Amino acid sequence: MDTEILRPTAPADFERAADFIRSGALVAFPTETVYGLGANGLDAAACARIYEAKGRPSDNPLILHIADLAMADTVAAAVPSVAAHLLTAFAPGPLTVILPKAAHIPDIVTGGLPTVGVRCPDHAAARRFIRTAGVPIAAPSANTSGRPSPTTAAMVHADMAGRIPLILDGGSCRLGVESTIVDCTEEGIVTILRPGAITREMIAAELPHIAVRMDAALTAADEAPRAPGMKYTHYAPRVPLTVYVGAGTDVAAALGEEILRRTAAGERPALIASNETIAALSDIIHAADTYHCGARGNHSAFAACLYDALRHFDDMPVTSLLAEGTGEEGLGRAIMNRLRKASGGAVCFV
Ligand code: TXA
Ligand code: MG
Repeated sequence: MDTEILRPTAPADFERAADFIRSGALVAFPTETVYGLGANGLDAAACARIYEAKGRPSDNPLILHIADLAMADTVAAAVPSVAAHLLTAFAPGPLTVILPKAAHIPDIVTGGLPTVGVRCPDHAAARRFIRTAGVPIAAPSANTSGRPSPTTAAMVHADMAGRIPLILDGGSCRLGVESTIVDCTEEGIVTILRPGAITREMIAAELPHIAVRMDAALTAADEAPRAPGMKYTHYAPRVPLTVYVGAGTDVAAALGEEILRRTAAGERPALIASNETIAALSDIIHAADTYHCGARGNHSAFAACLYDALRHFDDMPVTSLLAEGTGEEGLGRAIMNRLRKASGGAVCFV
């Protein structure tokens, strides 16, 4: 199968994409977080193709993407008031709410769960694509299962070429990490199942009378996560990754020591770090083996390039990756959640 990359502008471009969706085919599309791998969310056979193209375990449910809030009522059996409040506050935006599913949503979308994840992306081309298709679009991130999520059409192409007919190209995704997932199915409590750009603090500020908690699996390694996808290996680069966290100068010093140690042992480590740390270590590592993630402490810059950084060294003969982590406040929590998973928990506090 040929895979076309199309930058949609004219109505005919969106019609073409919608025709693929109506015929049961897959279309990758941009959102403000990462690229999605879309299918008609009401067509079980089309959704089965998503699992096949990604190599994804079938118990890991898909998110339904909607063009506007009115569409939420067509996919959920009910929209609890807390969920309605969050959608009004943050949608369109990087928020997925877990709701009781409507009876006609195929089991393959929800992995057999009685609930469904619903998200309205803050991306004009994504919403126009969904509206033109006229159905909710089921979409996971458009990567091969286990790999870092794609944030450009070229990254989608690297994983999906030959497997899907069309990639809609919207340039680089603005945010770079997947949506915050919030379970709104329990009375009086909301639970964050996956951290993202809508932070716990932002959610708590909207819901002063509701307990907002993090899923226990996000803080304790031995707890089973309630978002089935959170239990799988994720975002993994091709070579092992170790993450260093601490005060700026301490982290730079620890990374410097580790680079020297590994280089002396005949290895070739690559470094993903802040501009400041890379500048401090420029004498001991080649510029080509470094990836700049912006100024230290600039979480939005770090998030936007995180997955590009994790894929950047794929075709280079480096033997391991070292990365500078960040504090867990605000968006830092989502960044560290992804880095913990990408490194298989190899995080050193210095
Ligand atoms: O930003 C995003 O959310 C991106 C873009 C494309 O919208 N999508 C995305 O999808 O990250 P995916 O499939 O990579 O991650 C969806 C996560 C998985 O961990 C899945 O287990 C969880 O959402 N999930 C989906 N439906 C669920 C449900 N009913 N209950 C609990 N977790 C659910
Ligand atoms: Mg994913």
